[in-house]
Parts: sequence; structure tokens; C-alpha cells
Amino acid sequence: MSGKTGYREGAEMSERSETLADDPFAGRHPTSHERMSGLPWDASYRHDEPAPWDIGHPQPAVVRLASEGRFAGAVLDAGCGTGENALHIATLRVPEGLSVLGVDVAETALAIARQRARERPKDRGIQVEFVAADALQLQRLGRTFKTVLDCGLFHSFDGDERTQYAASLASVTEHEGTLYVLCFSDHGPDTGPHPVGQEELRAAFNPRNGWNVAAIEPDRLQTRFHDEHGAPAWCATIKRL
Ligand SMILES: C[S@@+](CC[C@H](N)C(=O)[O-])C[C@H]1O[C@@H](n2cnc3c(N)ncnc32)[C@H](O)[C@@H]1O
Repeated sequence: MSGKTGYREGAEMSERSETLADDPFAGRHPTSHERMSGLPWDASYRHDEPAPWDIGHPQPAVVRLASEGRFAGAVLDAGCGTGENALHIATLRVPEGLSVLGVDVAETALAIARQRARERPKDRGIQVEFVAADALQLQRLGRTFKTVLDCGLFHSFDGDERTQYAASLASVTEHEGTLYVLCFSDHGPDTGPHPVGQEELRAAFNPRNGWNVAAIEPDRLQTRFHDEHGAPAWCATIKRL
């Protein structure tokens, strides 16, 4: 754990301090999660201990999806946190042409992710970038993606945000592109803090807003507060129409 703490201390604090000093939300509307907790997401990354979801390695569900060749083309990791999932995807040797953009609103997390990217062996041809962006306003990126990963972001949004999020994702996902949503599920025992029902996923992503839910499969999400089996989760495969 001491290595991780050192990481945080060494993680380019100046990169975040300018933005956060004056306005912790950097001009955006605080999310429902931030309004409820009274703290910006960035605060979760400013402790000696990693955030509860920050397990220090890629989520096994993401590793499995990657090993099945599910990530292709330009990949977006929405709410990338400290970047382990994005970095894992970026180090895949195949397919050719894979590049990864991780976005988050937490500058401290992004600084850690960039530091990790710099420290990964360069001979593996890492093509990864981490930038500050609001997942509810992705059209501002001016880029499109063939594959999008959401690992633990969707379940933090309330109903209105989910509507906005689906539209925001639709604006940057290519026709026939694929969105993978990994979120806590409502099938206990020992559910995570924001359990989601399958019907909530189907309500958020549907043909009326440009999406088709192709599959929702039971999975697990590891956290720092569950045992090694993690929490019950869904892995939703959602196609852009
Ligand atoms: C539960 S964490 C998951 C982080 C990462 N995907 C992982 O698996 O470790 C949710 C992440 O989404 C980010 N986030 C929350 N609201 C966001 C928004 N509107 N736009 C971009 N990122 C957001 C948070 O800062 C946090 O890093």
C-alpha cells in the first residue's frame, strides 16, 4: 500500500491545483453524487488510501472483455479514474489501430493515470491519453469512438443524468459501435452502493434514444470493501444504432 500512497503524493499535484483551487467543479454542474456527498469526485482521490473502487489493477471483467477481443478502434473509457482499465486495453497488442482515451472529472485521478502511462514499458506501443471531460457533455470532445467502456460511472448517475448521459454517449459513439456498461447489480447478497436493475439499463438505453441493449449478463465488480469475489454486477453490451 505504501507504493500506492507514494504514487498519489508524487502525482503531479500542480496539474490539478490550478483548476481545483478556485472552482472544485471546474465550471460544470455538480453531479447528483457530488450534491449528495457534498464533495467533488476529485476529493475521493486526495486521501492517503485509494478510493474504495480503486483496486490498483484492471477490473477482471474488463480483462475478460479485452481477452475476448471486444475492444476495437478508438476506445473511450468514460469515468476512467486512475486509468488501470484504459491502460490495460491500451497495452493489448491486437487489434491494430487501437487507441484509448480516458476521461474523468477528477484531475487528481487523471494525474495518477498519466503518471502510470508514463511508467508503463514503451515497447508495447501504448496509445493512451487521459483528459478532463464531463461524461455528460462528451460532444465537446469533437471525437468519435468505436468502443466505449463505462466501468462504475453509470450507476452513480440519477435518472435525469442517465438520460443526458445516454445522449452524450450517443453523440460520440459510431454507428454500430459498442458500449460496455459494468455496474453494480441489484441481485444480492452483498450488493454495491448503487445497485441497478436490468430494467433501469433498458430504460436508459433504448431504440428511441439510439441504442439497443444486446445483452445484460451477470458479472462481478471488485472493490476495496468486498471480499475477493467482489460485488454482484451487470455487464451490459449495448449497440449504437
Ligand atoms: C466509481 S469510479 C470508477 C473509476 C474507474 N472507472 C474504475 O473502474 O476504477 C467513477 C469515476 O467516474 C468519474 N466521474 C463521475 N462523474 C463524472 C462525469 N460527469 N464525467 C466524467 N467522469 C465522471 C469519477 O471521478 C470517478 O473517477
